[in-house]
Amino acid sequence: MVKRQVPKPSELFELMHFKAPELNGRKRRLDAALTIEDLRKIAKRRTPAAAFDYTDGAAEGEFSLGRARQAFEDVEFHPGILRDVSNVDTSTTIFGGPSAYPFGIAPTGFTRLMQTEGEVAGASAAGAAGIPFTLSTLGTTSIEDVKAANPNGRNWFQLYVMRQREISYGLVERAAAAGFDTLMFTVDTPVAGARLRDKRNGFSIPPQLTLGTVIDAIPRPWWWWDFLTTPTLEFASLSSTGGTVGELLDSAMDPSISFDDLDVIRSMWPGKLVVKGVQTVADARKLTDLGVDGIILSNHGGRQLDRAPIPFHLLPEVVREVGNDTEIAIDTGIMNGADIVASIALGAKFTLVGRAYLYGLMAGGRDGVDRAIQILTDQIVRTMKLLEVAHVAELEPRHVTQLQRLEPRPRP
Ligand SMILES: Cc1cc2nc3c(=O)[nH]c(=O)nc-3n(C[C@H](O)[C@H](O)[C@H](O)COP(=O)(O)O)c2cc1C
Repeated sequence: MVKRQVPKPSELFELMHFKAPELNGRKRRLDAALTIEDLRKIAKRRTPAAAFDYTDGAAEGEFSLGRARQAFEDVEFHPGILRDVSNVDTSTTIFGGPSAYPFGIAPTGFTRLMQTEGEVAGASAAGAAGIPFTLSTLGTTSIEDVKAANPNGRNWFQLYVMRQREISYGLVERAAAAGFDTLMFTVDTPVAGARLRDKRNGFSIPPQLTLGTVIDAIPRPWWWWDFLTTPTLEFASLSSTGGTVGELLDSAMDPSISFDDLDVIRSMWPGKLVVKGVQTVADARKLTDLGVDGIILSNHGGRQLDRAPIPFHLLPEVVREVGNDTEIAIDTGIMNGADIVASIALGAKFTLVGRAYLYGLMAGGRDGVDRAIQILTDQIVRTMKLLEVAHVAELEPRHVTQLQRLEPRPRP
């Protein structure tokens, strides 16, 4: 028999913990987001479909992105025991400078279209967190304004070598003059990938006011208010052009670029030169022999060649081949700090996040980027503590197994 009693009012009182309601809607929304996926959901509600899909989507059947994320889900961690992990050190060095965590913000084009604070939010949040920020050639904030937003932190510049070489070279010179320390030459874009969502949405810059976009705008008035009341969207690095996204991308990309271009850029750039979009062991070797300061294993977040190799699967072999000779970073599919920890354990020196940052930006501007960074850094620290690893440099391959779901079958 359960014994029952009449509850005393004082006991009930003790249980009551009513918090004052948070009146700041942005803060309330962001505080409730516990994962990058939560930020994505908020972003989707608040951003017009065409801009959200441009960010969220990938090329063709979007297999590459799905596979990259699955590969991270398929990580199995092997923790140690009984080590003092009261304090963990997440700091590292990469491309000749420090970073408070082993990740930075990847270059993304059209960023102010996703949310009006754009690169200024990204660069200032990165500066505050002590991690590097990368400005894209197709960024919507100028090199100089990014420097002003992140005056003391590390800024990197991502380069597309365009048909009109002088435009690209001009950007390289400006980035050097503004004190950007690393140039990231993207090489996986001879032409733009087929982003089918953009085609279906008729996504263009500036956005067109069609019946569809007007209906889509009704539940998202603040995005349009921001868009219409802030300076016109144009490429702050390039001379302003308009058109469909495919046309704009194709105007920035040149299918004839070659290793000769790498030589030219090397001779112009005083800082660290790294190549983004490396997808084979042989190319990693070749670039390393050519003396680049780093390579970024990436399939562009699945936005270029669909069914391209999963960078995380490529990582161990590339580390074995060139890990002692150059610095290897990796991106594509990172949605959790644990993905970052797993990448470092398998030998990457650094990681980049694209969408994870953009979901935060779309969810709440600068505060949203802060929240995205905080979610990732909390996950990194917690994962390291649970693995019983006190320093990033102590993460080793023994901490991670890649489960086999997506492993290639042995060749006959
Ligand atoms: C909306 C968007 C725009 C991008 N624009 C560029 C770009 O201009 N230049 C570039 O090198 N990579 C670009 N990328 C690729 C990112 O730098 C990065 O490789 C990719 O986002 C990593 O995958 P993740 O989004 O899963 O983190 C873009 C990615 C996204 C999502």
